Amino acid sequence: MVNLRPAGPTDTDLLVDLVVAAVDWSGGTGIGRADVLDDDHLVRYVEGWPRAGDRGVVAVDAQGVPIGGAWLRMFPPSRPGYGYVAATVPELSLAVLASARGQGVGSALLDACLAADPTAVSLSVEDGNDRARAMYLRRGFTEVGRVGRSDVLLRGTPDLPQRADG
Ligand SMILES: CC(C)(COP(=O)(O)OP(=O)(O)OC[C@H]1O[C@@H](n2cnc3c(N)ncnc32)[C@H](O)[C@@H]1OP(=O)(O)O)[C@@H](O)C(=O)NCCC(=O)NCCS
Repeated sequence: MVNLRPAGPTDTDLLVDLVVAAVDWSGGTGIGRADVLDDDHLVRYVEGWPRAGDRGVVAVDAQGVPIGGAWLRMFPPSRPGYGYVAATVPELSLAVLASARGQGVGSALLDACLAADPTAVSLSVEDGNDRARAMYLRRGFTEVGRVGRSDVLLRGTPDLPQRADG
């Protein structure tokens, strides 16, 4: 059984660590917290946390120490995430600290985020991250785009704004 709690305003530092863990999923990038905070694209996942509409869950160990987290954030088109589909579609970020992987924590976090059942959720998964990709495909995500060396996956039906001319 995985202990989960809502992500809150005091979790910004944890989310930075989790962005590091997500980017460094293969363990070979050497990326650190400063790289996330200095990177105009990566910092978008944590800047101003929590913004209106942000929500997430944190997994904690028996002592209450965080071991992973998942969160949903919407991005404006002028400042999209790597998994951006539309301004109305929240993008999911997910990571478990390396010492706690392979024990069902990631699945519990992912399912808790999806249980909120927003109309649609997108995310970005890099080539080679097959364990994570398989988790998403098993939950109904499909490939809808490509950014760099990553696929954009989408689950659900986006509530897209109507075009003024049509
Ligand atoms: C991907 C990640 C979040 C998964 O979290 P985790 O706690 O390690 O994973 P879990 O133990 O919950 O297992 C996840 C899935 O892999 C499956 N799995 C577990 N061990 C496995 C193995 N040896 N081989 C294949 N699949 C395995 C589980 O059955 C589970 O699938 P399901 O929930 O669909 O049934 C975690 O490994 C991580 O943080 N990786 C680095 C960051 C990252 O890649 N983030 C995602 C970016 S898109």
